[in-house]
Formats: sequence, structure tokens, C-alpha cells
Amino acid sequence: MKNIDTYTHVRGESVYLDDIPVIAGTLYAAVFDSPIAHGKILSLNMDEALRMPGVVKVFTAKDIPGENQIGGIVPDEELLAGTHVHFCGMPIAMVIAETDEAARAAVKKIKAEIEPLPVITDPREAKEKGELIIPPRTFKTGNTDSAWSRCDHIFEGRAETNGQEHLYIETQGAYAVPQENGVIRIYSSTQGPTAVQRTAARILAVPMNKVEVDTTRLGGGFGGKEDQATTWGVMCALATHHLNKPVKYSLHRMEDMRMTGKRHPYSSDFKIGLNKDLKILAYEATFYQNAGAAADLSPAVMERTLFHCTNSYFVPNVKATAYSCRTNLPPNTAFRGFGGPQGMFVIEAAIAKAAEKLGVPAAAIQQENLLKTGDEFPYGQKAESEANECWNKTVELYDPEKIRKEIMEFNASNKFLKKGMAMMPICFGISFTKTLMNQARSLVHVYTDGSVGVSTGAVEMGQGVNTKILQVAASVFSIDPAKVKINTTNTYRIANTSPSAASATADLNGKATEIACLEILKRVKQVAADELKVSPDSIEIKEEWIYNKGVKTEWDWKRLIMTTYSKRISLSELAHYTPPGIHFDPAKEKGHPFAYHTFGTAIITVTIDCLRGIYEFDSVKVVHDFGKSMNMMIDKGQCEGGIVQGIGWMTMEEIIYDKEGKLRSNALSTYKVPDIYSVPKEILIYPLETEKENQAILQSKAVGEPPLMYGIGAYFALRNAIKSFNPSANIPFDAPMTPEKVLMNLYTTAP
Ligand code: MTE
Ligand code: HPA
Ligand code: MOS
Repeated sequence: MKNIDTYTHVRGESVYLDDIPVIAGTLYAAVFDSPIAHGKILSLNMDEALRMPGVVKVFTAKDIPGENQIGGIVPDEELLAGTHVHFCGMPIAMVIAETDEAARAAVKKIKAEIEPLPVITDPREAKEKGELIIPPRTFKTGNTDSAWSRCDHIFEGRAETNGQEHLYIETQGAYAVPQENGVIRIYSSTQGPTAVQRTAARILAVPMNKVEVDTTRLGGGFGGKEDQATTWGVMCALATHHLNKPVKYSLHRMEDMRMTGKRHPYSSDFKIGLNKDLKILAYEATFYQNAGAAADLSPAVMERTLFHCTNSYFVPNVKATAYSCRTNLPPNTAFRGFGGPQGMFVIEAAIAKAAEKLGVPAAAIQQENLLKTGDEFPYGQKAESEANECWNKTVELYDPEKIRKEIMEFNASNKFLKKGMAMMPICFGISFTKTLMNQARSLVHVYTDGSVGVSTGAVEMGQGVNTKILQVAASVFSIDPAKVKINTTNTYRIANTSPSAASATADLNGKATEIACLEILKRVKQVAADELKVSPDSIEIKEEWIYNKGVKTEWDWKRLIMTTYSKRISLSELAHYTPPGIHFDPAKEKGHPFAYHTFGTAIITVTIDCLRGIYEFDSVKVVHDFGKSMNMMIDKGQCEGGIVQGIGWMTMEEIIYDKEGKLRSNALSTYKVPDIYSVPKEILIYPLETEKENQAILQSKAVGEPPLMYGIGAYFALRNAIKSFNPSANIPFDAPMTPEKVLMNLYTTAP
């Protein structure tokens, strides 16, 4: 089935925040944000701003009737700076004006006197100074201390990964509209409508039932709107609360890049020990997460780094410690993979180092250590592994040995063009790492004409979740998909939702929808059975017709629905779903946190130009574990998008903050993402249909985040290409591998 949004997308008719027709009298917000990364606010002068044409009001922290607090996990972040600023781009004041141009013009006239305080941008420095968001955590299995003596080879090193800008095409924004009795409706471009609702209630000191949040769809979120969409929704609500007028704020790209957090940069140390058969006996890692100036989702992201620190390998002795370090950067946040990719990069770096020193291909070490079913992760869960199946199928289909030979021949006969390849297995745990967040509800109505409306907590952000939920309803009822409508995500219809995140949206909301539909189906089948005077067990609905013991009856879907209604039987159901069997004990750092894992293997090949340092990815060949895909077109799209986004993170996307904490790569002229010319020339995705029972919706495994991690292979492919030009290059593990870094490494030799 095609993505249900295809038609309106290509016609430009899909509704995003900025497409909502504004009500007459709507006012516009713009934020005055801190020009410096750390300081004490001495004075704020808004006189000139207030005299600008069209300006209605300027709000500051003093105008917040409730708590000036937007921190979700840790209460450590103000909506508007009170006495101190903690990062460049921290909101200090909000101008409200009759047009957005007037609001932005007035922002420029605000004068702030801020006494500068010392700025930290480096996570290791933050850790040294005791600036930690939460106490460190350690995941442990076996005993690394005693394992080192049994290792034939031990390697140590350091690995760096930089941040990543989400670059959703639709920037952050919100539109608040006053309703009667003090209710505020907030249209928000958010992955987490409930977070916006909860925080607005907290800021305004009103009960949550006075805040309605409504989301039609996002032009991309990628994690950037899991937590950080809240700010703008709440800002608009604050102005609406005071002025009783609709207030809208849709950020400009540069405002968005400057004021919002990104993927967490990490600086990490590793130590890996292998025996002579290349079995990894021990692995230690220390992660320094650059959290930015407030917690935001950092503790949860840090936790997922630990969960994924051994990627898809079985290591019997592991000790991994993570520090969430407070720096004066915008608070970093969720980004596709949620800390997992950062953890996985480090073990891949450790394996690459071992391979280079031992003179074997990294693939030999990777393959030797792949997880088997029954192997235990460092956090205690036993793997239901498809790692070997994916790897073996990759070898069978794409023949990496042949690719390796071809590359060697190419490199031998080309002086200034060199190719490199890398294999990248992935393993990603599906479920929110915070167990309680794994719950969802679905409200299904069957209308008397037989059409169906479904409301869930799922937010459509391009990943196709609405299409999947629609497929669930249509298939349970066996009706034409055109009869099913997925409604906007609204906190008045579905309450206490988890954000659409963790790749689990279709699983959680799809399963709730399945339960609701099955419940209604049971009722209408009973009605059919009563009317036909047969047992409900012999009733079946197929393509909108009612069958009795396989024989088509006179009854169709519409007639059955109308009859059910006339018998005063409910055609609506609100169902709740939570995945069974998951638990985690943070005191022991052990449990069974994931409903299941998604696996896969990629081969990435690249060609570098050794005169200029530029490169092109020749191909990405993947075997991906889809379980049993319910929508191959959407799932392959998720793979392709994730791969390109992962390659971007590892190669050309370079976030640069200067020592003063100012974002230098603050526009699309200085921050480069892969475009149509720089995507791999070929992306092959072979769907491995895996047989094992899993807890995915219709056995269709979660696919949103895992493919991003294939992109990590791009870094190692580049490294191998450089090494074939300059075998004595001493390349630090420092992603992204920009063309500049490639060039430096091509001509720099080991000291
Ligand atoms: N795909 C598109 N087109 N746009 C997005 O914003 N977000 C990613 C992924 N794929 C995203 C996307 C992230 S970070 C997650 S967690 C999942 O989609 C969320 O959706 P799901 O749970 O339905 O997979
Ligand atoms: N993934 C994504 N978002 C989250 C998670 C997670 O595991 N936990 C809390 N928010
Ligand atoms: Mo995705 S980072 O869990 O929104």
C-alpha cells in the first residue's frame, strides 16, 4: 500500500503548522536569545523594542504565572532566562507583535547587559570540574579486570563523534488559540503532544485538561521535536494566556539552528582485548557525553549509549561507564538512534584499531563475535539474534571477498583514486528504555455508514506511521483502506501519550489499534451470528462481506454496522496496549528492557580523490531484518533515509562551536547535509524475512532508527581508502570524516 500522504504531499496540499489558516487578530512571537554562552543578566532594556511599530508586548521570566521550568527528566531548564544564561541561544524574552516581521525587528532592539562567566564546551573539562547532569552509570558483565591477562592482544584508544543538526525540513513552531473558559488549544509541530500539554500547564499553573494540543503531521522530527518542540508551544501559550489572542511562532532556519540542541557529541576511551582466534574477551569503554547546558533527554540518551555499547557482538567481559557532562552549549537532545550510534561507533573504532594492528580485515573480527541467540547482553537480556543470519545472507548475496579483491585491483592500478570498504552490522533494541513509557492507546470509531476513524498518540513525521495504523484497522476489519481515516493527534482524544519516538510508534499505537478493532469486530460478529442464527465462531468478514462457514451471506459490512447500531451496541472502543515482559532494574543495571532487537548488516564502498580529499560512496548493500514487513515501500524508504542521514553524520555534517560557545555552522551555507549528488550511487536493501516470533505489530519490526547506524560503516570505509593511499597514516577516530580531514590524513604520516 502506498503511503496515504503521497497524494497531498506531491500536490503541496499536506497541512503543516504553517499551512493552518490563521484566525483574524493572530499575533506573532519572536524570541530574544542570549548572545553569550554563560553569564549573569545585569539588565534588560526593552524600551526601544516596545516603541517599534506593531509591537504589543514583551514577555520575560517575570510574566510566567506558574513554574519557570521546562525540564522533563531533571527540573533544570528555564523557559525564559531568569538571572543567568547558560548557552548561546537561550531564550531571554519574547516579543509579541502584529506581524512576524515586526516581532523580529523589535527583537533586534532589545538590549541586554550580561556579565560573562566562564564557558565550558568540552565534556571532559566539564567532568573534571564536576559538572555532571546525573551521577555516572556503569554497565558491567563478567570481570574485565581478570580477563585482560587471558587476552593475546589488547588495544586502547580514543574516539570522538560530533553532533548532528536535525534539519527537519519544517522548522520548529506552534500556534496557540484561546478557547472559552481559559482553555488554550496549541497546534504544535511536536513528536510529543503530551509533553507540550504537561509543560504548558506547569508554566501557566493551570490543570492539564485546560490545554489541548493538536498535531496533524511534522515535516520531519528525527528526535529534534521529542522534547524541544515544547519550548515554542509553551511560549505561544504563555502569550495567549496573557493576551487572550491567537499567537503563532514559526522559527526561521537560523533561529532554529541557533536555539535548539542537536545530537550529542561524545568523547570516549576504549580498551579491547582479543584472543588469538580474534574472539573479543574483554571490552571497556568510558563515554563523555556533551549534554549541553541542561538535562533535556540526556540521561535517557546516555543510557541507550550503554545499552548499545557492544553493538551486535557478544562480549563476555564488559565494563562501560558513561558521564553526562554539563557544558554551555544548547541542551542536546534525541536524534535518530538516541545515543546508540555514539556507543556503537566506539566499539567499531576499537575493532578497527585491533584489525589494523593485527593486519586482518575488521570483518574477520566482526564476524567472529556476532551475537547468537541466547547470548546475554551486558544488561542481562538474552538475545533473540538475527545477527549471523543477516551477516551470512550479506556474504551470500553481495560477496564481500570479491568486492575486497576488486578494490585491491582498483587501488593497485589507480594512483590518485582509492577505494575502501567496510562492513557494518547493527543491533538496536526496540522499546523506550524507560519501561513506563511503553504504553499507548487507540480510540476507534465505526460510523453508521461503515467508515472508520482512528485516533492514537502516534505523530506522523514522514515515517509512515499513519499508513501502518490504517493498514492495521483495514486488515482487522477486512474493509477497503479508503474507508479508514487516521485523525490528527490530539490530547483531548488520547491522553498521557508517550512521544512518537524510539522507533516504537507503530508497534505501540498499532497494537492498541489492533486490540480496539478486534473488540469491535467481536461485537459486530456477534450481531451477524444472532441475525443469521449461527455461532459467532463461524462468522468471518472478508472484503466487506459477511461469510458463514466460508459461504457468502446476504450481509455486507455496511448493513452489519447499521444493524449493530440499531441494536444499541457500541461501535467505538478505546484500547490500551503495553508490551508484556519488559522490565529493568537501574540499581542492578540488569533486566529485559527491550521487546525485541532489530538486526542487519551493510557493506559500504567509497572512492576518494587523493588530490582533493573529496569522495563518493559507490554503494551501500544491506541485508535488513524486517521481521515480516507490513509495508515494504515505507520500510525501504526508512532504510534509505536512515542510511543517508547516518552517512551524513559520519562524513560531511560538521557542527562547529567556537570556544565562546557560539555556533559557527549556523546556516545551510556552512552546515552541509547529503544532497541528491552526494548520496550513495547505489543502495540495495534485501529484506530478510525472519521467522522468530517477535512483539512487533503484525510481526513487522520497527525500522525508524536502526538503519541510520549502517552509516557508521561510511567512516570506516573512508579510513580504509585513506590507508591504501597512505599506509602509515595515523588517523584519529574522529568523526565526521570531512573532505578536509581526508586530505590531511592522506598526507600525514605517523609520528
Ligand atoms: N522518518 C522521517 N521521514 N521523518 C522523521 O522525522 N524520525 C526518525 C524515524 N524516521 C523520522 C523518520 C526517528 S528519530 C524515529 S524515533 C522514528 O522514525 C519514529 O517513528 P516510528 O516510531 O514510527 O518509527
Ligand atoms: N528512545 C527515544 N526516546 C526516548 C527513549 C528512548 O529509548 N527514552 C525516553 N525517550
Ligand atoms: Mo527518535 S530519536 O526516538 O525521536
